Amino acid sequence: MIEVQNYDEMSQKAAGYIIDKVCQYPNIKLGLATGGTPIGTYKNLIADHQKNRTSYRKVTTFNLDEYIGLSGNDKNSYRYFMNEQLFNHIDIDKNNTYVPLGDSKDAEKECLRYEELIEKKGGIDLQILGIGSNGHIGFNEPGTSFYAATQVIQLAPSTREANARFFKHVEDVPTKAITMGISTIMKSKEILLLVSGESKKDAMNKLFNEEISENFPASILKNHPCVTIIADKAAVSGL
Ligand code: GLP
Repeated sequence: MIEVQNYDEMSQKAAGYIIDKVCQYPNIKLGLATGGTPIGTYKNLIADHQKNRTSYRKVTTFNLDEYIGLSGNDKNSYRYFMNEQLFNHIDIDKNNTYVPLGDSKDAEKECLRYEELIEKKGGIDLQILGIGSNGHIGFNEPGTSFYAATQVIQLAPSTREANARFFKHVEDVPTKAITMGISTIMKSKEILLLVSGESKKDAMNKLFNEEISENFPASILKNHPCVTIIADKAAVSGL
């Protein structure tokens, strides 16, 4: 685990880590996350791209999840988020950026398509992860099977409340999402978990001190051979 002072330092370190990989492996397949945690990391990637011309022309990306019912043009969709926070500002080919389609007619079919797509492209080399305060990764809520592939998930009330800050009203937050499953995430060759702030203190405590359990999805990461955690002081203050 890399312990840092605060959110800004976490973001710089995470971006540096990703940039090194992209320079070393220009064809890298990155798994990307949304939420408040990676925004600073993406800002640093953009700044570096503008300054040092790190190129993403050959990079492929897969996002973890998407709300069901929102099209990519919807300001609250994760596709829109990714375009705004990263893709529009770097030289990546948008055809190589994949986010589950939240407005597909058949969400179950979309899950299969997405899972197969990741496999067909050779899998994810480096997956960036945040963590929900209830231990969710992607949108895999507590109780999700560790064996699940990309799937439709019912969002926990606490997750909808936590994400209501991006919407006008909490009722506007969709009730379901498509998420890479835990098994999809675990197949990534490498994982970079970013954790910042006091609101994640309990989650960090559980991650470090409790047994692996489907009631705390992130706990499965202890079984992954290559995980790096970058966490700030506030997040680790209870350890
Ligand atoms: C969201 C996302 C996750 C994210 C997590 C934490 O609901 N689906 O991918 O890691 O919850 O979000 P934040 O970074 O805003 O705390």
